[in-house]
Amino acid sequence: MNLVLLGAPGAGKGTQAKLLCERLGLSHLSTGDMLRAARESGTAVGREVAAIMDAGQLVSDDVVMALLQNGLRDATKGAILDGFPRNLQQANRLEQLPTFHLDHVVSIDVPVEALVERLSGRRSCLACGAAFHVAFSPPEREGICDSCGAALVQRADDREEAIRKRLEVYEQSTRPLVDHYSKKGLLRAVHGTGEVGEVTQRIVKSIGVER
Ligand code: AP5
Repeated sequence: MNLVLLGAPGAGKGTQAKLLCERLGLSHLSTGDMLRAARESGTAVGREVAAIMDAGQLVSDDVVMALLQNGLRDATKGAILDGFPRNLQQANRLEQLPTFHLDHVVSIDVPVEALVERLSGRRSCLACGAAFHVAFSPPEREGICDSCGAALVQRADDREEAIRKRLEVYEQSTRPLVDHYSKKGLLRAVHGTGEVGEVTQRIVKSIGVER
């Protein structure tokens, strides 16, 4: 099964994708995590995209498409795409991949005030990709990742100006995908507020895989 998680920055795509992948045995393909990993390891791609990401803008379609295709090669049991596609061009390129079949698109809907609160309080582990929140899901030891013990940081794009830009880019470039996938009969919309586990339940119910 292949699933796309759609949603504004901070909607909980990464949080839910991790839980759903464990539960359903799927691969987690986050283009944001792939780009951050490229930056951390100092590759040419990483250097090329750093300033674009920090400003809250979208990286080029060719760069993310190449990363995604690499990830899909290893996802033999299916995947959850988190943060991809981000615009209609990426959606069309995904549809043209000969071996990829998209089963569901889940849109996680969260009011804008809650998005800003979540993003400004998020602390991220750049080593393993885990996300925490200073108020909603703090780590056991302040500033330290529960999963791998690395230091937690505030992402550069989680600062106020970049958050505003990301929300604007989402409205302009990504929100049209809701309509696109709705017309194809693939869209399932779920409320993304409430406890993390409740949101997971809504998603599994929406795609008919409660197990
Ligand atoms: P990316 O990493 O994909 O960022 P994003 O889409 O902006 O999403 P986020 O990671 O900010 O949020 P999320 O929805 O995953 O929420 P999370 O679960 O962490 O992309 C970053 C950048 O990379 C882009 O701006 C762009 O430059 C580039 N990029 C990536 N993909 C691209 C593409 N396809 N094309 C072009 N460029 C691309 O949760 C957020 C916080 O809320 C956390 O603190 C979490 O603990 C908390 N939280 C989660 N659920 C709940 C809940 N139910 N209640 C309370 N708090 C919650």
